[in-house]
Amino acid sequence: DVPIVVAIDGPAGSGKSSVSKAAAHRLGYAFLDTGAAYRAFAWFALSRGVDMSDADAVTGLLADFDYYIGTDPDDYVVQVGDMNVTDAIREPRVTAAVSSIAKVPAVREHLTNLFRRIARDVLKPGIVIEGRDITTVVAPGADARILLTASEEARMARRSLEISTQSAETVAEQLRSRDLADSKVVEFMSAADGVTTVDSTHLDFEQTIDAVIDVITTRT
Ligand code: C5P
Repeated sequence: DVPIVVAIDGPAGSGKSSVSKAAAHRLGYAFLDTGAAYRAFAWFALSRGVDMSDADAVTGLLADFDYYIGTDPDDYVVQVGDMNVTDAIREPRVTAAVSSIAKVPAVREHLTNLFRRIARDVLKPGIVIEGRDITTVVAPGADARILLTASEEARMARRSLEISTQSAETVAEQLRSRDLADSKVVEFMSAADGVTTVDSTHLDFEQTIDAVIDVITTRT
């Protein structure tokens, strides 16, 4: 049977990852955090000491990039080689480097192919895939396509609660510059044709999950 595919895009701090994971858990679906794959590759490039602005050098690393991205929403793990990098890929130095590698076309192509393979081979009845270009590039034919947004103010506030090691201003500044850099590569600030927007500005976590599940059940 072909698995049901749910595509969810949105900017940083929209709550995409936690909401998508919770929705996948409730539906008994697999979960794929594509940002984690970009982060794992950025972590790998940093560990090799590669110049992030050198697209050829970054592309050259793809051949050696040996990694594993889990798809179980209840036991989420990311590995590079035999290193568990699940926590390390959230470090500020990785966040600061990830947009540079994400704009390299060969990197996007490589990871897009990986994501499609994972979605095709999934053993559960469906998969929730979240990122920036899932509704438009990775899975434009997905059964349900959602853009999860929130006001900039709400996104900044949520993210700075998560990151206690940096000041709210630093977090906000980094979020803004990352969204700006990423927007030049893929469009995720407005919904593409046929994509349903869920605005979580005035919703709490549970309400946002309910709103997302509503869209999914209407579409599938
Ligand atoms: O979602 P998250 O913030 O973890 O994503 C990390 C980075 O990975 C983004 O800032 C972006 O540069 C890149 N990314 C992407 N396309 C995706 C998912 C993430 O370019 N589908």
